[in-house]
Amino acid sequence: MKILSGTEISKEIKEELKKEVGRLKQKGIVPTLAVILVGDDPASAVYVRNKKRTCEELGLNSIERKLPEETGQEELLGIIRELNKKPEINGILCQVPLPVQCNEQEVIQAIVPEKDVDCFHPYNFGLLAAGIPKFMPCTPFGVLQILKRSGYETRGKNVVIIGRSNIVGRPLSILMSLKECNATVTVCHSQTKNLASVCRMADILVSAIGIPHFVTPQYVKEGAIVIDVGMNRVSDPSHPKGSRLVGDVEFEAIQGIAEAATPVPGGVGPMTIAMLMYNTINAARFQAGLERFEL
Ligand code: GUN
Repeated sequence: MKILSGTEISKEIKEELKKEVGRLKQKGIVPTLAVILVGDDPASAVYVRNKKRTCEELGLNSIERKLPEETGQEELLGIIRELNKKPEINGILCQVPLPVQCNEQEVIQAIVPEKDVDCFHPYNFGLLAAGIPKFMPCTPFGVLQILKRSGYETRGKNVVIIGRSNIVGRPLSILMSLKECNATVTVCHSQTKNLASVCRMADILVSAIGIPHFVTPQYVKEGAIVIDVGMNRVSDPSHPKGSRLVGDVEFEAIQGIAEAATPVPGGVGPMTIAMLMYNTINAARFQAGLERFEL
């Protein structure tokens, strides 16, 4: 089985992005991302730190707003409105999940669509669904880039996606069904009947369900390509931290069945961050009246 390294592919993409940042700097443009982190969720803190570090690596500016767990909705909305108004900020991202007192949808919709580099705002989601996306949803676009840059065509393929979240499953199903991909898409969820047999129809199987060991060999067709979007922390006393990150897929068990698969960590995760950088660069380009930078 071939291992599809998101770490390697994202490095290649980041090199392309770094060059583009250099070209923009010659025009006096420095793409700038504002990241909002509310509360002390340890996973979110790690993701936000990685996003910030990648900005530095590629030459983007980043500013961080760290807010306490008890931050109220109005305060959060106030900070977003302030960032919306600043012309030097090109992209705004509010890390989710948010603490319970915050209304996630209201927060997402408070970010002006022009700066919505997550592609979470219904306006940008709508453009995507209409087949005329402006920003690309980060994780789904990362999945497409892994396939494209590994030489796997999506045209005419049966793509089965486990999970219908607004962050991964649904936007990926839309992207895959567009003319650019031409896949035949099935979206599975908690009410899907005969899930394993539906998954066994997949030429490309994507799991975005967030349950460790969910995808076992009986879900995988011989020769399938398996993309694991799961990021699950499981306890492991033998590990220095007492826990480790695993995907949704029984990676070892599918080795003799799948044609190729993404590992966790080092698969989809690093791609998501690279795509966020891509969207931030394009936000800066659009705001300067320039065309999209294509990958
Ligand atoms: N939480 C998990 N993934 C993401 C993401 O891509 N963007 C934001 N804002 N929050 C997340």
